[in-house]
Amino acid sequence: MRIGFIGGTGPEGKGLAYRFALAGHEVVIGSRSRERAEAAAREVAERVPKATVRGLENAEAARDAEVVVLTVPFAAQAETLPALREAIGGKLVISTAVPLFFDGGRPAMSAVPEGSAAEQAQALLPSARMVGAFQNLGAAKLWEGDVPLEQDIIVCADAAEAKRQVMALAEEIRGVRAVDGGPLASSRYVEGITVLLVGINRKYKTLAGVRIVGV
Ligand SMILES: NC(=O)c1ccc[n+]([C@@H]2O[C@H](COP(=O)([O-])OP(=O)(O)OC[C@H]3O[C@@H](n4cnc5c(N)ncnc54)[C@H](OP(=O)(O)O)[C@@H]3O)[C@@H](O)[C@H]2O)c1
Repeated sequence: MRIGFIGGTGPEGKGLAYRFALAGHEVVIGSRSRERAEAAAREVAERVPKATVRGLENAEAARDAEVVVLTVPFAAQAETLPALREAIGGKLVISTAVPLFFDGGRPAMSAVPEGSAAEQAQALLPSARMVGAFQNLGAAKLWEGDVPLEQDIIVCADAAEAKRQVMALAEEIRGVRAVDGGPLASSRYVEGITVLLVGINRKYKTLAGVRIVGV
């Protein structure tokens, strides 16, 4: 599978690209700058020499990819996604964004009129098959090395087949179990967990993750 990352030069995009490259996928890092995309692609390729990793501008990456992962900050979605509408079309798109901001140093969640970052992305890319996933997976943990993550990924989508595909993709990352989180509208709760985790990480000086018990 060829997986493209919009804003893939940041820690989350590079981390997921690294893990998917380890799982045997071709990855395409997107950026506003081709040079930054190529530099990030080199960083991933150095860690996974057998993988095919390329760096392209966001629109080219979106066009080239079979599955598109959105890894721009939530605040950048509204200005970034409309220009990619045609390149993305009806593809499978994964929203990783969390509408997080710091309120006097404390992690907090922005009010999103659409309900969640994933639903805003769906509104901006109406033809895309939108799936919310990976919002609780910290970039530092992803980049740590080829170590099992031992975490659950909660996957939310309205299209059953798209959800199934992303759940299968997530489980290709070592130590990940995918959990069906329901419709895309439930992404707001998953995104909120990350705000909580950021606070927990600060308090316990750790990289906390999510495990759902009883399923
Ligand atoms: N970091 C984490 O641990 C973590 C965990 C869970 C979820 N997430 C989510 O994953 C996404 C990426 O996180 P991150 O920490 O990697 O973010 P980031 O480093 O702040 O941004 C990622 C990339 O987005 C591009 N970008 C930044 N501002 C932009 C703008 N105004 N317009 C267009 N592109 C812009 C930049 O790429 P170019 O300059 O190369 O274009 C940047 O390298 C976020 O939505 C975040 O909520 C992050």
